[in-house]
Amino acid sequence: MNTPKHIAIIMDGNGRWASKRFLPRIQGHQKGVKAVRKVVKHCGKLGIETLTLFAFSSENKNRSNEEVSLLFKLFLSVLKQEVNKLNKHNVKLKIIGDLDLFPQEVQQTAVDAQALLANNTGLTLVIAANYGGQWDIAQAAQQIAKRAANNEINVDDINIDTFSQYLSLADQPKVDLLIRTSGELRISNFLLWEIAYSELYFTNTLWPDFSPAELDKAVESFNHRDRRFGERKDKAC
Ligand code: IPE
Ligand code: IPE
Ligand code: MG
Repeated sequence: MNTPKHIAIIMDGNGRWASKRFLPRIQGHQKGVKAVRKVVKHCGKLGIETLTLFAFSSENKNRSNEEVSLLFKLFLSVLKQEVNKLNKHNVKLKIIGDLDLFPQEVQQTAVDAQALLANNTGLTLVIAANYGGQWDIAQAAQQIAKRAANNEINVDDINIDTFSQYLSLADQPKVDLLIRTSGELRISNFLLWEIAYSELYFTNTLWPDFSPAELDKAVESFNHRDRRFGERKDKAC
């Protein structure tokens, strides 16, 4: 079996899960956290190296003030509550995105949690918060331009490999499998550069209902993919 090294998930459908039950949207997000816990644990068992979860997109800040502030609160309480459990499971944490948007307490808690888990050697859990694939590429370009202006790098040395080193996931394995729940067939400004050759898996399941068994199904589908990367095994014309 060919286990993906890096799985990325667009965890979508929390609001619809709640609406179907005549519940406020926040209850869908709360239930979504439970699915996150199970999936993180399962990825550890499967020996996945990195799991990247899309928790809050650059565009999600345009939702109602009420939903955004409830999501910030939920993020804060989950960070505080889960950090010791993650530590026990040897999980390393990395938070990517433009965290300046978040209240100071959230930013500080994120820094502390990452520091506490920094020496763990099991699964790397990446949380994308106020993250956008376009933002990531733009911030990489900005860093490179600044270094070039300071003569720290030569413009002729900018290529695919060197550019990649400035992206938020530079230190992680390539994204093998991208999963999106809730039936939407789009990327919604999640990883753009990194999914150049990822395998894509879409499911109608709403995120709060996503289970370890569903993850197994996605991995099973991944195992049947013929990843050619533009090449052909048979070299004949
Ligand atoms: C995904 O669920 C979680 C976030 C974007 C924060 P949604 O809130 O987008 O749920 P739907 O798509 O409205 O059902
Ligand atoms: C993508 O879902 C963002 C997250 C899952 C965090 P959205 O619900 O924000 O995306 P759209 O609006 O359907 O494109
Ligand atoms: Mg959505």
